[in-house]
Amino acid sequence: MLMLFGVIMKPKKSVLIVEEQDELRRELSRLFEEHQYEAHEAGDIEFLWRKTELAGFDLILIHWRPEWYPDRFRVRAVCGKYPESVVIVAGLLPDYELAVDFLKAGARDCLGDTLSSTELVDACEAALNQHFRALRPWYNQSVMAIAAAIGLRDVETEEHCQRVSNTTVRLCRALGLDQEKHLQAIRWGAFLHDVGKVGIPDSILHKSGSLDPFERQQMRRHPEIGRDLLARIPFLEESIPLVLFHHERFDGSGYPQGLRGEEIPLEARAIAVADTVDAMLSNRVYRSAQTWETVLQELQDHRGSQFDPWVVDVALGHRETVFQDYISGSLVNLEASV
Ligand SMILES: [Fe+2]
Ligand SMILES: [Fe+2]
Repeated sequence: MLMLFGVIMKPKKSVLIVEEQDELRRELSRLFEEHQYEAHEAGDIEFLWRKTELAGFDLILIHWRPEWYPDRFRVRAVCGKYPESVVIVAGLLPDYELAVDFLKAGARDCLGDTLSSTELVDACEAALNQHFRALRPWYNQSVMAIAAAIGLRDVETEEHCQRVSNTTVRLCRALGLDQEKHLQAIRWGAFLHDVGKVGIPDSILHKSGSLDPFERQQMRRHPEIGRDLLARIPFLEESIPLVLFHHERFDGSGYPQGLRGEEIPLEARAIAVADTVDAMLSNRVYRSAQTWETVLQELQDHRGSQFDPWVVDVALGHRETVFQDYISGSLVNLEASV
């Protein structure tokens, strides 16, 4: 995971490029790096074999050479040995027999040699998305199982998590994030934003009165506990910023790291708005749901202090889409203005 000034950056996809010619290999590396991949290189099958033993690459792109034919069994093994990696073999066609053999072994695609750079990257992206979509139902079930475990501690209702998740994804879309896989990571991270509260003692978590300074300090550990829990689950790595930074404030007065402004990942600046809006529009034991006018006023009052002003402006500018979960219950008069 890449850390920069205390902020977890969105992890890049990793690609292993297997190409015999040095110049072409470097050119392919540069191409994929321009498309936000972390590129690794291997110049021959022997190196491919050793490298794939070491790391779980998202993508393995092999430029096949006819002289590698005696070693085809090693390539075949790589095609099926790493289910977490998408393997694409280029330069095979028109040897359809070998292409079918590699596809049967587990390669996701076999390509000709005539693709442009853009077509090659597009083909790899399509294969990665297809791979991710195939795994998504299993990932969803895992996230639901974790959420059910949180529910046993009565940390927050599933409905709250679901609404915050929906609203955060819609807001992130309105903010210009559009990568399907990244939006899915945002959905899961928002759904599990308070997962770390499972590590907070009942005496603090369920206390009806206000918390004393020590208890507040304990409670404020939940984003980091959540980060530690999610760090053990590889497919949730990209969701960690939402869990770790959902209590940061734009002016730097939040926790756990006191990040300010754009040091806070955009997804976390979005969930801060979604979580607050949902909490205010929901009935709580200690108070009833507040009006939409009060919520709008709160967003405006804390625009630039608690919240990113741009995120607030985009949320309000797209309010009918972003806050659509609240329309049906007539909790919200979306025409209200401040
Ligand atoms: Fe929280
Ligand atoms: Fe929440």
